[in-house]
Amino acid sequence: MMKLKYQNHRGGAFAGLLVLLFPILLPSLFCPLGHASPSMLSELNTPKPRHSRLFRSALQRESSSLQLSDLWSPLDNQGWRTCAESKNVTALPEKSEGYIQVFLDGGLNQQRMGICDAVAVAKILNATLVIPYLEVNPVWRDSSSFMDIFDVDHFINVLKDDVSIVRELPDEFSWSTREYYATAIRATRIKTAPAHASANWYLENVLPVLQGYGIAAIAPFSHRLTFDNLAMDIQRLRCKVNFQALVFVPHIRALGDALVSRLRYHQSKTEETGANYLQRDVGRRNSAGKFVVLHLRFDKDMAAHSACDFGGGKAENLALAKYRQVIWQGRVLNSQFTDEELRSQGRCPLTPEEIGLLLAALGFDNSTRLYLASHKVYGGEARISTLQQLFPLMENKKSLASADERSQIKGKASLLAAVDYYVSMHSDIFISASPGNMHNAMVGHRTYESLKTIRPNMALLGQLFLNKSISWLDFQQAVVEGHTNRQGQIRLRKPKQSIYTYPAPDCMSQA
Ligand SMILES: *[C@@H]1O[C@H](CO)[C@@H](O)[C@H](O)[C@H]1NC(C)=O
Ligand SMILES: *[C@@H]1O[C@H](CO)[C@@H](O)[C@H](O)[C@H]1NC(C)=O
Ligand SMILES: *[C@@H]1O[C@H](CO)[C@@H](O)[C@H](O)[C@H]1NC(C)=O
Ligand SMILES: *[C@@H]1O[C@H](CO)[C@@H](O)[C@H](O)[C@H]1NC(C)=O
Repeated sequence: MMKLKYQNHRGGAFAGLLVLLFPILLPSLFCPLGHASPSMLSELNTPKPRHSRLFRSALQRESSSLQLSDLWSPLDNQGWRTCAESKNVTALPEKSEGYIQVFLDGGLNQQRMGICDAVAVAKILNATLVIPYLEVNPVWRDSSSFMDIFDVDHFINVLKDDVSIVRELPDEFSWSTREYYATAIRATRIKTAPAHASANWYLENVLPVLQGYGIAAIAPFSHRLTFDNLAMDIQRLRCKVNFQALVFVPHIRALGDALVSRLRYHQSKTEETGANYLQRDVGRRNSAGKFVVLHLRFDKDMAAHSACDFGGGKAENLALAKYRQVIWQGRVLNSQFTDEELRSQGRCPLTPEEIGLLLAALGFDNSTRLYLASHKVYGGEARISTLQQLFPLMENKKSLASADERSQIKGKASLLAAVDYYVSMHSDIFISASPGNMHNAMVGHRTYESLKTIRPNMALLGQLFLNKSISWLDFQQAVVEGHTNRQGQIRLRKPKQSIYTYPAPDCMSQA
């Protein structure tokens, strides 16, 4: 295993969670999500609905058509347009200062940000970027390369006037490999880039290496470029990479399109397959249906890390406490806060039941098409079933695509995540049950495309769920009021915040 040591420096309640993960123990404890898959969890009693009164009311809810049309209507025009293309593009330098190599850890969405930052750093240094190397994550274990996930030709072509990019190092530098840097201290390796380093830091510390050796390999590189005090054209270039240059390989887009079409035209894979879809779809264009993507990241790590109580009783609490101890060995303590305190602070990820109640209270009825973008749910089928009772038309990759269609992405976490990303970007509404990289990536990309994205008000929901006597009507009213301004309205980036989550005002301007 390579000794590059990476650190995650993102803020937020779940910061650092992923780097703490330990690979052992993981696979068999999770239950894969899917209509057909049996629960493999034996340690749990069946988790019961925690909010059974609300749940019963929600099952009988009737949504007004006014409320529904309001929910499904696209965002009002807010008078912002995108401007990733800088007006004064700085021309490519006549001579490159050398090659920049980066090694990116994390899951797909974290690597995506690293790619955007790498292009920006190459621009700052007038260097040539080598297509970034994607590390194999110890948890997800997907060895897919950049080329397996993203369309490289498109990437290089879209950025050709901004930065020069090569697929591979020329022969004279072929010694500069991951193995080379893993086995000894090397003069061409930059390993001390501080989190959110400034442009000047790169000019002072990396440029001399480039000029001396013709190459610099930066690792670790996650979250290593500041979001503040950068030239406007560098910020816009970052957005151009994220929102224009990075597209998935054709087979991912094709599968994504097929899933979107099946969601819109209410077909399932058992109805018909292959070419028939296309024919039917063309004929039924007029009746395109709408759908919500729900990103339900509720896995054991997240459940254990939050130290909240999720209603699985003593057995579950013990299992989570033990897991915390084994995985984080005392670095994540049993919280000093009570479950009530954690909840009212909005620090507990929403369970499938809770996100279901939120969607029901917002007005989504039982004819809503819901696509689940996620593949592991702690508590498995039992936890999913409460959500499914509220939303019977619930789908995922497995229910919508045949085994044959899924064969190319099977077991490959990054490719699975790429399909979910693609479907999420094509949904009418996106909502995430917990903050994290996927949530942030979608908030940013969908803001850029002016698409509706509901951001759950975790603290409000935590408080409402604590009130065991609250009536459905009061719950519903409080939920609706608490989410009117959380549906994708532009929020301007504040200092230190990520340009990939808040692309305005750097990459968008008021028309
Ligand atoms: C959907 O809800 C309506 C009204 O509450 C109910 O009559 C109907 O049976 C439900 N349909 C399904 C499929 O659950
Ligand atoms: C990069 O190139 C531009 C234009 O050729 C030049 O103005 C700038 O000083 C160069 N920067 C570095 C770090 O070499
Ligand atoms: C364009 O360049 C000029 C001067 O070179 C600078 O003053 C201006 O801020 C730049 N505009 C943008 C949008 O970067
Ligand atoms: C719980 O909800 C009820 C109404 O549904 C309300 O009267 C009561 O004040 C709430 N309790 C708390 C502690 O907020």
